[in-house]
Amino acid sequence: MQDFAIQIENVDKTYASGTHALKGISFDIKKGEFFGLLGPNGSGKSTIINIMSGPVKRNSGTIKIAGLDIDENREETKRLLGVVPQEISFDSFFSVNESLLQQSGYYGIRNNQGYIDEILEKLNLSDKKHTNTRMLSGGMRRRLLVAKALVHKPKVLVLDEPTAGVDVELRHNLWKYMQKLNEEGLTILLTTHYLEEAEQLCERLAFISRGKIVKIDTTKNIIENDKLEDVFIKLTYDS
Ligand SMILES: Nc1ncnc2c1ncn2[C@@H]1O[C@H](COP(=O)(O)OP(=O)(O)OP(=O)(O)O)[C@@H](O)[C@H]1O
Ligand SMILES: [Mg+2]
Repeated sequence: MQDFAIQIENVDKTYASGTHALKGISFDIKKGEFFGLLGPNGSGKSTIINIMSGPVKRNSGTIKIAGLDIDENREETKRLLGVVPQEISFDSFFSVNESLLQQSGYYGIRNNQGYIDEILEKLNLSDKKHTNTRMLSGGMRRRLLVAKALVHKPKVLVLDEPTAGVDVELRHNLWKYMQKLNEEGLTILLTTHYLEEAEQLCERLAFISRGKIVKIDTTKNIIENDKLEDVFIKLTYDS
């Protein structure tokens, strides 16, 4: 039997406003995979991620993390996941370090300073360790969100546009770090509007358009005859 990190089956979501955001979404991500979810603005990417991580409730369908149903195993599946949300919000007066210690405490992890220092270094945030989170720039905040998602050493990392607003050099550093984490066994689901990023990092890609998955294949197959940008436009705007 295939070892899956994420199984999404027939997930449907209509928001209270009446928007039918997800129309029977199904896809699986294997353990250890680096998987990309691509789609235009408003196609449903964040809705899927927010259903997986909790804040948005689906109308129907099932989601499993490492074979565990997220409704039946809420605590365990939350611990398996690390999520970088698209929306940035820090409403505390904590420093970067305090915020990461607090996040560790939330998972019952003490004495995490060594690992926090390592993450901060990899994310080029060491010099901001004692800076108030409210005083960070946009790109720094985005990288702090990645740090927060990693403090409890999740098995599956879900990234909703983690490199949005991150400058080109730091973006490349972030790619290297994500690749290293993936090589060490972390499963990664990435959404991005940077197609170059998806092409370089992801082994497989799913395209979503107007709440439906319109294609899933290996990146290699997808770009065999066409540029990824052309495939993206054809698949997501024509359907
Ligand atoms: N809280 C909400 N209430 C009502 N409608 C929403 C809400 N959040 C998203 N939507 C709608 O659901 C649809 C999908 O939105 P979603 O945020 O999932 O798109 P996305 O693919 O993440 O887009 P982007 O690339 O811009 O981040 C859109 O039509 C959006 O307007
Ligand atoms: Mg989004």
